[in-house]
Amino acid sequence: MHSQKILVLGATGNIGSATVKTLASRKANVTAGVRDPSKAKELQNSGAQVIKADMSQNQAELAKIISNYNAVYLVTPGHIDRTQITINAIQAARQANIQYVLLVSIPCADNQNILFGRQFTPIEKELKASGLKYGILRLPMFTDNAWGNNEPIRTHNTFYGPINGDKKFVTVAVQDAALAAAIILENPSKHNGKTYTITSDYKSSDEQAQIFSQALGRQIKYVNATFEGSKQSLLKMMPEWQVDGLLELYSLVEKSDVSQVNQTSDYKQITGNSPTTTLSWMWQNHKSF
Ligand SMILES: NC(=O)c1ccc[n+]([C@@H]2O[C@H](COP(=O)([O-])OP(=O)(O)OC[C@H]3O[C@@H](n4cnc5c(N)ncnc54)[C@H](OP(=O)(O)O)[C@@H]3O)[C@@H](O)[C@H]2O)c1
Repeated sequence: MHSQKILVLGATGNIGSATVKTLASRKANVTAGVRDPSKAKELQNSGAQVIKADMSQNQAELAKIISNYNAVYLVTPGHIDRTQITINAIQAARQANIQYVLLVSIPCADNQNILFGRQFTPIEKELKASGLKYGILRLPMFTDNAWGNNEPIRTHNTFYGPINGDKKFVTVAVQDAALAAAIILENPSKHNGKTYTITSDYKSSDEQAQIFSQALGRQIKYVNATFEGSKQSLLKMMPEWQVDGLLELYSLVEKSDVSQVNQTSDYKQITGNSPTTTLSWMWQNHKSF
């Protein structure tokens, strides 16, 4: 049993929901703060409490909610206004004088040359200057983004991307990000003032194709599409600002920028476990591919 009362804001997304479910399965006292509780049945069924809370709501009201907890996890939303939204939540956490804040960020948070960097720099800065005890979880591209390639892999054993097949980059499995966050939130005193980068694997797209072939028992091929072609297909999945931001990340991969190639041992250090390889991720999900 853990005595910590933990609040997760941004709890219906990939990272938030996986973290809430991981905490609930570990019998932690976890509450999911969601904008629309009627859409959070799955979180309720996991054993978590669900309340209505919005990172962009009135600061004093949000502070009142946050003051009922010992630790809050701010899962920065994939929203064009995420700088203001997340800073609002940090300021509410400060008003509430909460014991610990864990924040989702990205490995290129210091890079002013790209949109995502410009969005995350002021968020990290606000948290560090808040006087609160905090931790930052920097997450690279998700292994789980393979779901975005599910249809072409299922229908014609091929997936596409804007980079050369031999360019390696780090990824994080959402389940690894969730376990690391859960362990930090259950016992935050060990993780004060820490910035972690959680990486699960480091593979090129060609290597991913080989791994997918192995897990699925049939030949899967990676095709390097043009940036414009990639943009058009990504626009079917996400808004333009996010597509442009993602393509900037791929440009960093092309240049082997340290933010995209630096494998860390932070996951092992926090959890004691080995991270989820791309191969084991695909084993877990092979029936859907
Ligand atoms: N995909 C990747 O490869 C990748 C890699 C690294 C980092 N990231 C970033 O990591 C963060 C978490 O990823 P994710 O996939 O879990 O994010 P997501 O799917 O965008 O979910 C974030 C959650 O934010 C919440 N939210 C709260 N206030 C909001 C508001 N005013 N407007 C919009 N959403 C609001 C929503 O939860 P409620 O409905 O419960 O309120 C939403 O489910 C995002 O910033 C993402 O861009 C993504």
